[in-house]
Amino acid sequence: MKCLNFGSLNIDMVYSVDHCVNEGETEAVSKLEYFPGGKGLNQSIALAKAGAEVYHAGSVGKDGGILINELKNNGVDTSFINTTDCPNGHAVIQVDKNGQNSILVFGGANHRITSEQIDRVLCEFSDSDILFLQNEINAVDEIIDKAYERNIKTVFNPSPFTEKIMNYPLDKISWFVVNETEAFRLTGETQTDKIFGVFKERYPNSDMLLTLGENGAYCLYKGQKYFHPIYNTSVVDTTAAGDTFLGFFFANIQSRGVSEALKTASAAAAIAVSRNGASVSIPTAGEADKFIRNK
Ligand code: RIB
Repeated sequence: MKCLNFGSLNIDMVYSVDHCVNEGETEAVSKLEYFPGGKGLNQSIALAKAGAEVYHAGSVGKDGGILINELKNNGVDTSFINTTDCPNGHAVIQVDKNGQNSILVFGGANHRITSEQIDRVLCEFSDSDILFLQNEINAVDEIIDKAYERNIKTVFNPSPFTEKIMNYPLDKISWFVVNETEAFRLTGETQTDKIFGVFKERYPNSDMLLTLGENGAYCLYKGQKYFHPIYNTSVVDTTAAGDTFLGFFFANIQSRGVSEALKTASAAAAIAVSRNGASVSIPTAGEADKFIRNK
């Protein structure tokens, strides 16, 4: 199975602050750091570090070499990434003293995906492969439609959630990966059982991975519910914890089954939140397994 991730690549500008700034406030920053990021890039690296064969498709600006190299250095194939004359996507991330964040995302080159690129990429993949999408690039609806025509299963992480998402062909999605906010936007419900109830009615052919931060993660797979609590750890920076979870879950579900995949993903996410940065915080498969053995 090959994993194709048609996703964003961002430069993350990470500002360490006492608390995330409120409306009308000005706040001093204690540290500024630059990291490779983007939900797409992070998820590709998490999948690859967890052992999957990963191909990243997307678009960067002329100075996007640093993002391409980050993927290459982590074993991701980058031959489907276009370089454009548009600035790189970037994110402005505030990380507070408790490791919690708030993020602004500028699309930039991530919004230069063309129909020609979509066709050229998808024709290299087939029904035995799996497509990963987030909502940080343009043409997500077109990619979903065209992947479905080729019988490629799609995993969709609808983040950041925008109004447009409800007009996407969501009945063609195999897996939804959502946090509590996205689950609410998708179903109108806040309690897990009610979320799953509405979800099953609306999308009877789809499965769901529901990540609830410190309240653990649920999975609804083939009508059966699974749960794994978080592993307690000291939280430094939660950026990319969800991306790490997603990558480790899907890289392991076939070989280890749902329960073990949830466990491995929880361990990997726990390690990621104990480190600074996005993709650079993602552990290796060996680190995640060792973490579980030591628990
Ligand atoms: O999920 C974390 C990511 O969201 C960051 O790396 C940032 O680039 C934003 O896209």
